[in-house]
This record gives sequence, structure tokens and C-alpha cells, in this order.
Amino acid sequence: MAQAIIDLAHLAKKFGNQTVLKDINLTVNQGEIVGLIGPSGAGKSTVIKVTLGMEVASGGSAKVFETKMPNRLLLGRIGYMAQTDALYTDLTGKENLTFFGEMKGISKKARILESS
Ligand SMILES: Nc1ncnc2c1ncn2[C@@H]1O[C@H](COP(=O)(O)OP(=O)(O)O)[C@@H](O)[C@H]1O
Ligand SMILES: [Mg+2]
Repeated sequence: MAQAIIDLAHLAKKFGNQTVLKDINLTVNQGEIVGLIGPSGAGKSTVIKVTLGMEVASGGSAKVFETKMPNRLLLGRIGYMAQTDALYTDLTGKENLTFFGEMKGISKKARILESS
């Protein structure tokens, strides 16, 4: 059976009195590409943020690589590009990659290998 990369079970999230997520169940297996579709305010970004551990679930669980989130150590294995403010527009695409690669401590040799 394929390994579940993301496993959301009975996930709930409230902001104050507002229930944004209620009983969300989603499994994403290795190699799958998934899109979340819904109107603005439906809770798509909140699903992503709870999955990444940027927000803490109010109920249920969000697991990545079979580890309950939030988990700071696991963040090193997760790639995430935010909807806005993700890249420096004054830099070229390559310069952005170099900058973030350096920030992440990826050696120049490894960066060149991955880009070729
Ligand atoms: N940090 C927050 N504090 C309070 N309310 C929030 C917060 N983040 C999101 N919300 C609310 O949760 C709902 C879902 O937001 P969001 O997940 O950003 O939706 P989507 O990404 O589908 O547009 C919205 O009503 C939004 O106002
Ligand atoms: Mg959003």
C-alpha cells in the first residue's frame, strides 16, 4: 500500500467562535498531486497551515510522514511556497533559488547539481 504523506483525520479549526474547519478527512499518498478548490474564505489556506503546523488544530489531527503536526524538525522535509510574498521580485528566478538555497544551508555543489 502507498505511504500516506499527509493524513488529516477529523480535523477541526476554530478562530475564536468561528468554526473554519469541521471534520476534515484527507489522505494524500506518495506521488499524488492534490488541489484544494473552494470559494475565498472556505478554509483552503487554513487546511494548509494546520498541515504545516503554522496553525494548531482545535480538534482531530494532522499528520505528515506519520508524525503529528506541529513538529519543527519535520519542517526540514517539507517544501512550501506561500500564496503571496514568496519570492523577491527584484531578484531573478535563479537568484531567488540561490538565496533560499543558501538560507537553507544547501551547499553550492548540491544546488548546482539539482539545477542541472
Ligand atoms: N488567523 C486567523 N484569525 C482569524 N480568522 C482567520 C484566520 N485565518 C483565517 N481566518 C478565517 O478563516 C476563514 C477561512 O480562511 P482561509 O483558510 O484563508 O480561506 P481560503 O484560503 O479558502 O480563502 C475565513 O473566514 C478567514 O477570515
Ligand atoms: Mg487562501
